[in-house]
Amino acid sequence: MGNQELHRGLDGIAVAETRLSTIDGEAGELSIGGYPVAELAKNAIYEESVFLLFNNRLPTKSELESFCTELAGYRSISTEVRQVLRQAARENADPMDALRMGVAAANLGVDVTEPTELAKRLVSVIPTIVTTYWRYRSGKEPVDPRDDLGHTANYLYMLSGEEPDPAAVRGLETYLNTVVDHGLNASTFVARSITSSDSDLVSAVTGAVGSLKGSLHGGAPGPVLEMLLTADDSGDPEGYVQEKLDSGERLMGFGHRVYQTRDPRAEVLSHAAERFYSGSDDRAFFEFVEEFEETAVNRLADHRPDRNLETNVEFYTAVLLHGVDIPQELFTTTFAMSRVGGWTAHCLEQLADNKIIRPLSIYTGDRDRSWTPVDSR
Ligand code: ACO
Repeated sequence: MGNQELHRGLDGIAVAETRLSTIDGEAGELSIGGYPVAELAKNAIYEESVFLLFNNRLPTKSELESFCTELAGYRSISTEVRQVLRQAARENADPMDALRMGVAAANLGVDVTEPTELAKRLVSVIPTIVTTYWRYRSGKEPVDPRDDLGHTANYLYMLSGEEPDPAAVRGLETYLNTVVDHGLNASTFVARSITSSDSDLVSAVTGAVGSLKGSLHGGAPGPVLEMLLTADDSGDPEGYVQEKLDSGERLMGFGHRVYQTRDPRAEVLSHAAERFYSGSDDRAFFEFVEEFEETAVNRLADHRPDRNLETNVEFYTAVLLHGVDIPQELFTTTFAMSRVGGWTAHCLEQLADNKIIRPLSIYTGDRDRSWTPVDSR
């Protein structure tokens, strides 16, 4: 035990086998369920991506129809959960905290314990929790889910109360497919760790939501949007970027621990955003974004020639979610709404071949102390 090597943050350590997704950081490639992310993202509906992760194959037409029906049947939340969300909204809780509270109660009033069924419940209920909370927080009554709408369209419908625009549904669907799974990231590791003690999926996803909330994980797209809007308003994006770098700040939406290239998800989402904005009134904003990206990548290359600081997924996440009218405050909860497909698939994979995750720590405290009675300290 004395010669244990320390791997801070488990860097470079493999602790699980998975068939769900794989990343090649050098080549800038991501494959989900065996499909290049670009192919899955543009063709699948979200339910198809989740079926692929759960079953290791794409569904037939009739399997997809029944899977969509099953998921739609799990969307409702109880009056008690609504009350919790209303109270969270009164207290102006962070949307990720409200989501954590709602997810923790996801099996309240729902008689489901079988892991695969719980996985479906968790995937289905997150949009209802997020939109119920958000409508309360905006001073509106929640909108009940509609089981004649697909997962993505229903989310937009519950958010606005209006029939969603098909272009917005397709844009959001592409986003949800793109980020549904990404190797053993921090929140997925948390979900697998909780599952590995033979706990349940509601506990695992509640923990994963807590992990995703952190600014080093799911919190970047909000600041990206703020940066873009401020740079656009400044009228001098080049000067804005230079000033940030000169003052030692990081440019949000650039750089990645794993990818040495432009993040393949940024590639997919930039095309999706381009398609969306070309049919919208905000085409000028997208043109600005493209110019900003080019300026930022060039300035970062001058600033840090020793590193490949390229565009990451969060840059175009912000642009696309803003375009389809997701409030900035809900960017991270919308990320959770996608990633729950990956979290639950990892939980099921862990259960199928479980060994409790129990790493070591290296003790750095004192040894051989002798007890001093409280009155003598
Ligand atoms: N802008 C300016 N400088 C940067 C940036 C950036 N976006 N990214 C890294 N650097 C610099 C750092 O300041 C650091 O400089 P130093 O060596 O003088 O201290 C050096 O490059 C290395 O930075 P690390 O944080 O050690 O590199 P790492 O590869 O671990 O960082 C990270 C990856 C955290 C994403 C980083 O690039 C970053 O902070 N980017 C901005 C925030 C962001 O976009 N986050 C979302 C990431 S995508 C995702 O997680 C899903």
